Amino acid sequence: MLRVQEQWLSAVNMAKGTFTLGIESTAHTLSFGLVDSDGIPLPSSSDTIRPEKGGIHPREAADHHKDIANQLLENLFEMHGISGRHIGAVAYSQGPGLGPCLRVGAAIARGISSKLDVPMVGVNHCVAHIEIGKQQCGCNDPILLYVSGGNTQVIAHLEGKYRVLGETLDIGIGNMLDKFARAQGIPFPGGPVIERLAAEWLQQQDSPSLQGLELPFAVRGMDLAFSGVMTAAQRLIDNGSDLGAVCWSLQEHAFAACVEVAERALSHTGKSELLLGGGVACNSRLRTMCKQMAEERSSSSHAPPRMYCIDNGTMIALLGHIELEHGRTTSLAESAVNQYLRTDETTVTWAV
Ligand code: ATP
Ligand code: FE2
Repeated sequence: MLRVQEQWLSAVNMAKGTFTLGIESTAHTLSFGLVDSDGIPLPSSSDTIRPEKGGIHPREAADHHKDIANQLLENLFEMHGISGRHIGAVAYSQGPGLGPCLRVGAAIARGISSKLDVPMVGVNHCVAHIEIGKQQCGCNDPILLYVSGGNTQVIAHLEGKYRVLGETLDIGIGNMLDKFARAQGIPFPGGPVIERLAAEWLQQQDSPSLQGLELPFAVRGMDLAFSGVMTAAQRLIDNGSDLGAVCWSLQEHAFAACVEVAERALSHTGKSELLLGGGVACNSRLRTMCKQMAEERSSSSHAPPRMYCIDNGTMIALLGHIELEHGRTTSLAESAVNQYLRTDETTVTWAV
């Protein structure tokens, strides 16, 4: 009986036009992902440009996305055993991000929408990070610590929008880690390598006598800043400090600043769930620090699986699915990208 039901369910899922396709192209990564008709996510097919030298060049990243798009989409369909006829809607990142990269994703979405004659919806990339996290972690009304390459924000849902309670005043925490790493000859993305070097250094220490290196702690009210701590960390390296020790101290200072602002947001709003999102939320040390803070104030801290922390098409598909269910579509005339779209510009009609 159960088997028959399973077969029936899978036949329903495979019916024409049941999946929402999501396209992510805000920066380094091009990614296609899917959710089914119930909004259940399926893993993405992604590729990230990793410049050998220097930072990201928007035009080169856009060329990468153009060159790889067909292959990635084919991989996605193959991975999940579907074809174009199973797609019922297409969602894409409308902003924020790098103009040339965003425009590639939007052009692909327009093409698919018109070829398959399915609705299109342009979504806010930052809000997509939030929604996939809420869905994966089963959070209801969390404070969000959104820590990625380009963004560092502490967010709460208040009166129909995701409000930014605090944010970085200069660079995103991930960009700071990547830039510091690049100066040491570590290629993009530097965050995971800094995490590994810090953990290896810690293992060699006699923890009761553990002394971190001194770095600035940049919390300004509810806001944060990271370029000062990056410069100071580089100065330590230039003065001969051990790279592992600097990586550990850099993480401790930068993460503690985020945790402090997140704690204040929990306290101000009276909410009791903290949710992490964005690529830096992959970091185990940050996850541990957030859990410790949350436990100390009888709250909880959550982080989605790592494949849904980094940029991925599935989170775009999920937000597209949610917005479509609430009656929003994007017409061709409204489909232009917005590099500077802010988290709090999107009206959130679906959350509590
Ligand atoms: P956004 O447009 O949301 O700013 P993004 O383009 O920065 O997104 P993400 O995939 O969300 O892309 O985040 C990438 C960042 O995450 C990079 O800066 C990378 O170094 C960082 N990162 C990834 N894994 C880790 C980790 N384990 N520890 C610290 N940082 C990490
Ligand atoms: Fe992102």
